[in-house]
Amino acid sequence: MPKTPIKTPKEIERIRDCGALVAETLAKAGEMCKPGVTTQDIDNFVREFTLKNGAIPACLGYKGFPKSVCTSVNEVVTHGIPGLYMLKEGDIINVDITSILNGYHADSSRTFFVGEQKPNAVELVTVARECLFEGIKVCEQPGARISDIGAIITGIAEEHDFSVVRDYCGHGIGKKFHESPEVSHCRSFVPGPRIEPGMVFTIEPMINEGTPKVRLLEDKWTAVTADGKLSAQWEHTIAITPHGVEILTLAR
Ligand code: MF3
Ligand code: CO
Ligand code: CO
Repeated sequence: MPKTPIKTPKEIERIRDCGALVAETLAKAGEMCKPGVTTQDIDNFVREFTLKNGAIPACLGYKGFPKSVCTSVNEVVTHGIPGLYMLKEGDIINVDITSILNGYHADSSRTFFVGEQKPNAVELVTVARECLFEGIKVCEQPGARISDIGAIITGIAEEHDFSVVRDYCGHGIGKKFHESPEVSHCRSFVPGPRIEPGMVFTIEPMINEGTPKVRLLEDKWTAVTADGKLSAQWEHTIAITPHGVEILTLAR
C-alpha cells in the first residue's frame, strides 16, 4: 500500500468547501426521493446543480461511469447507474455524490426512504448510519488505526445479524477521487496504519440484510446483493486534524 498523503490546512479547506456543496446537493437530492421520480431525474438535478455552483460531477466519465451520481436502490449495494427506474413507495435509495471544486474532491452518500417503510428496511438503514458514525468516532481515539474502523463497524452489524460488504472500501481523497489509505469496513487481524493528522479519507460502510456477497451486473458497475436482499450505505469524507476528527461533507 502506498503511503497516505498528508494534507495541509489549506488543502483541507478546499475539500471542506467542496464538501459543503456536496452536502447541499445531497440534501436536495434526498428531497426528490419520492414515488414517481426516476433515478435519471436525480442525475439531471445533481449534474445541473453541481455545474451551476462552479463544480464538476466527479462520477461523470470516471473510469467510464456514464452518469453524474450513483443511485443504488434496494438490493443494489453500490454504483447503481441512474436511468428509467421510477421510485416507488417502500424503496430505499442510496444517493452517492462526489464533486470536484477548485481541483479538490469531496464524497458523501446517504440512504433515503421512499415513502412508508417496512421495519426491516428502517433497521438496516439506521444501523448502516450508526456504523458510519461509530466508525468516525473511533478515529478520535488516541493511537487509533485504520483497521479499528472495520472492527467497530463489523461488531455493530453483527449485533443486528447484518453483514458487511467486503468488496468495496473507503478511500483517501483530495486532488484524486481515490487514493491511500484503503479503509476496509470489515474486521481484520492485520493492524492497519495509524490514523494521523492531515489524513483525509472516506468511511462508507455498505451493510447487507443477508449475505455480504455481491454480484456485478452486465453493465460492469451495478453491484447487487447475491441473495437479492436489501443493502444500505452511508458515507462521509473526514479529515484528521490536530484537534480531532472533522466531517468535511456537512452543509453550512
Ligand atoms: N462515490 C463512490 C465512492 O464512494 C465512487 C463512485 S465511482 C463511479 O467511492 F464511477 F461509480 F462514479
Ligand atoms: Co461515494
Ligand atoms: Co467514496
